[in-house]
Amino acid sequence: MKDQNRRELLSNASVLAMAAAAIASPGSLLALPVTAEAQEKEPEVTATEDLMREHGLIRRALLVYFETVPKLRQNPSRIDPSALRQTAQLFRAFGEDYHERMLEEQQIFPLVRKQGGELQRYADILTAQHNRGREITDYVLAVTNGSKVGATHAEPLAKVFESFVLMYENHAAREDTIIFPAWKKNFSDKQLDEISDQFEDIEHKMFGKDGFEDAEKKINNIEGMLGYADLSQFTPPPPPKL
Ligand SMILES: [Fe+2]
Ligand SMILES: [Fe+2]
Repeated sequence: MKDQNRRELLSNASVLAMAAAAIASPGSLLALPVTAEAQEKEPEVTATEDLMREHGLIRRALLVYFETVPKLRQNPSRIDPSALRQTAQLFRAFGEDYHERMLEEQQIFPLVRKQGGELQRYADILTAQHNRGREITDYVLAVTNGSKVGATHAEPLAKVFESFVLMYENHAAREDTIIFPAWKKNFSDKQLDEISDQFEDIEHKMFGKDGFEDAEKKINNIEGMLGYADLSQFTPPPPPKL
């Protein structure tokens, strides 16, 4: 949150009065009326929340790959390569060129590397995994370029998807739980606010608009094309009775 916004918010006497009422009666916090100002304002996204919701988007692309594996083995001729190609294009633009290259490799890893020890080793492995991922995306783009996934590519592509999804799930989970918290320790809350604004500027420079919202629309569209839009289909049946 920018300082000016914060001051405006804090100077709003009605907000203070409501906060005081909420403190006096803790259970009432959820019942606070939403001010017009709060309704108009975009909720602030912190720098690490930003990185983690980008992982959420990347994971949705990984799930498209994961869901495709059995189909590649059963009947590759029925797969629509354009949906896979669009997923790889999104992974390239949003995951590799923006999230990995502009944020992690330029902003996060250099500082984490300086923290030394195990963190330094992590930064090296994570960078090597970004590079391997880019080779894999090149491959996915190449084999999804035609009107069908050729029979000779079906099993190799299934194996590539399996290994890539496993690598990236491990990768993003380590970043969320080890790398981003370690990086965050270098800064005060005020500095993190400023960094969050810098991340937003980078996003606007790269995409000319809100890159996250646009990427979310794209993955949503791909999920729709493939029949994955309805989340409830992924709720499993109850486990066997003992
Ligand atoms: Fe990464
Ligand atoms: Fe990441």
